[in-house]
Amino acid sequence: MRIELSGPDISQGEIDAVIAVLKSGRLSLGPKVPEFEKAMAEYVGVKHAVAVSSGTCGLHLLMRAIGVGRGDEVISTPFSFIASTNCIMYEGAKPVLVDIDPRTWNIDVSRIEAGVTSRTTAIIPVDAFGQVPDMDTIKAIAARHHLRVIEDSCEALGSKYKGRMAGSLADAGAFGFYPNKQITTGEGGMIVTNDDEIARLCASMRNQGRDTGMGWLSHERLGYNYRLTDMACAMGIVQLRRINEIIGKRARVVSWYRQRLSDEKRISMQQLGSDCEMSWFVFVVKLADSYSEQNRADIIERLRAKGIGCSNYFAPIHLQNFYRREFGYKNGDFPVCERVAARTIALPFHNALTESEVDEVCAALKSLL
Ligand SMILES: Cc1ncc(COP(=O)(O)O)c(C=O)c1O
Repeated sequence: MRIELSGPDISQGEIDAVIAVLKSGRLSLGPKVPEFEKAMAEYVGVKHAVAVSSGTCGLHLLMRAIGVGRGDEVISTPFSFIASTNCIMYEGAKPVLVDIDPRTWNIDVSRIEAGVTSRTTAIIPVDAFGQVPDMDTIKAIAARHHLRVIEDSCEALGSKYKGRMAGSLADAGAFGFYPNKQITTGEGGMIVTNDDEIARLCASMRNQGRDTGMGWLSHERLGYNYRLTDMACAMGIVQLRRINEIIGKRARVVSWYRQRLSDEKRISMQQLGSDCEMSWFVFVVKLADSYSEQNRADIIERLRAKGIGCSNYFAPIHLQNFYRREFGYKNGDFPVCERVAARTIALPFHNALTESEVDEVCAALKSLL
């Protein structure tokens, strides 16, 4: 694509840091892992951070750490990336989906309680595109029903809710560092929590179930190799140092899009709650309801033909083939999610996007509309 949908922002600092690790010979389980974890814990304002090899691994370990198991139900949203609910399935539990708010595109908190049963053990709110949902209400519901809350903040590093960082608002949270994220380590993720036991279990499980101080061939519990390399952590440390610059660049790109698109009646944008300060992950517009899913597919195809990277985003989780097979989900189960998801388009969004490229994208989109 001439104008890429996304892309990492790598400076000489990240390159130097990775090379230094390569020269050091400490490629895994070295000093960069705790250094990155400490920096993340400080940034997010939590006691513990546990580096893992992806956001998905982080969510999976959190499910295990809070004891989600066979027969349990965990509530989440159908308008997210598949990993938000696959982590529930990994443990043999059932994702119970709750439709979204048509304005914020986050889980509709007024519908959560209807999804709670005697088997519900947790809620996974997702910070869609960077926006933290109404966490006060979610936590109040959780408290009433003795549920744990795990934030899927994979898209929201640096976002705030009532002045507090995404990921620090509940029992624990997970971030992801794939190259389209605010900061990247290539692949990677981070668990954040104030809970000593969750942190201890996650640190053990990501390292084959070894407890601190245990030998290489001693295993206290079922574990995995979900470790993050020192190269990745070295890169993450430098990226995190640049987080304010990165968030600022992304906010500037959003402001260019908004200037050009906010009075365009044929599209709408995610409405931002007044409690949330956004760290933008992607920039998504929604076509008016008069456009069909096929119209959206045509627009995407034609934008791409012009060299403009774009994508449908998200695709409803419940309509994925294996969710339909496993749980009997079908079209119409979550009408708000389906109406939004059939019409959303993620436009090019990364730190290096220029104002003239945003101009071109918006002009092309308007002419196709
Ligand atoms: C909402 C959400 N949850 C989870 C993940 C999984 O993160 P990863 O790709 O690092 O496994 C992503 C990544 O795109 C995501 O957007």
